[in-house]
Amino acid sequence: MIKQEIEDSVAYLQNKGFNAPEIGIVLGTGLGNLANEIENPIEAHYNHIPFFPLATVEFHSGKLIYGTLEGKTVVVMQGRFHMYEGYDLQDVTYPIRVMHKLGIKKLFISNAAGAINLNFKKGDIMLLEDHINLLGGSPLAFKGVSQFGERFVDMGNPYDTEMSNAIKNIAKKENITMHSGVYAAVLGPQLETKAEYRMLKIIGADAVGMSTVPEVIVANHLKLPIVAVSVLTDECDPDNLETADIKEIIKIASETEPKMIKLFRELLKTL
Ligand code: HPA
Repeated sequence: MIKQEIEDSVAYLQNKGFNAPEIGIVLGTGLGNLANEIENPIEAHYNHIPFFPLATVEFHSGKLIYGTLEGKTVVVMQGRFHMYEGYDLQDVTYPIRVMHKLGIKKLFISNAAGAINLNFKKGDIMLLEDHINLLGGSPLAFKGVSQFGERFVDMGNPYDTEMSNAIKNIAKKENITMHSGVYAAVLGPQLETKAEYRMLKIIGADAVGMSTVPEVIVANHLKLPIVAVSVLTDECDPDNLETADIKEIIKIASETEPKMIKLFRELLKTL
């Protein structure tokens, strides 16, 4: 990855009318519908944006959508890139760098995740207050990193306190059950073994998923404030483990999506 590639991606998008978005939003698996609520949308398919990674997974439609939501200009990623699809960590985080270069000042992230903390139930939402990177790599471990910022990025407070507090207040006001917890990112695409779920609990994870952490690391590299929520789609109880079913995971994500949309829309109003 070089700066010129990002500049070419940005030039293409600006040509299409992606002018100075204020907020970037990443929509996770089964959580793409917020994109349909954008007013005056302009769309750019990932496959058409110069130097963007090519979109693969069929249940992601794979596009960037620019427009307004609650009076704010936003750029939304409908579908993201995962390491489990064979992308490297720089591909996975490339769109974050592009959105940053387009001008976003804040980033909202969503994902579908399994509940490791068994006080949390499927269909609940968890605010990420911290994370554990089990992906086996870093999106900052590359030779040209210093062109883009410092190498040794502080991760003591990776999620923005102000937006996190604001979204907690919104959840309370809207009667939406929202927990706070630690998200562990694993490579996947296989789900975890019972022993792995036990380990995740022991090391302090409350939820597990296959995304988000690389994006959060790069956003911290770019000093971009982040708020991130998991939609909990399954309960990872090693002593009563149900057979993993990706269709069921997507179904629960879709059913829970309206709550996430409400939280994000209300949060936009506060900014
Ligand atoms: N493990 C990993 N990723 C997931 C899970 C899970 O149980 N549920 C949704 N995404």
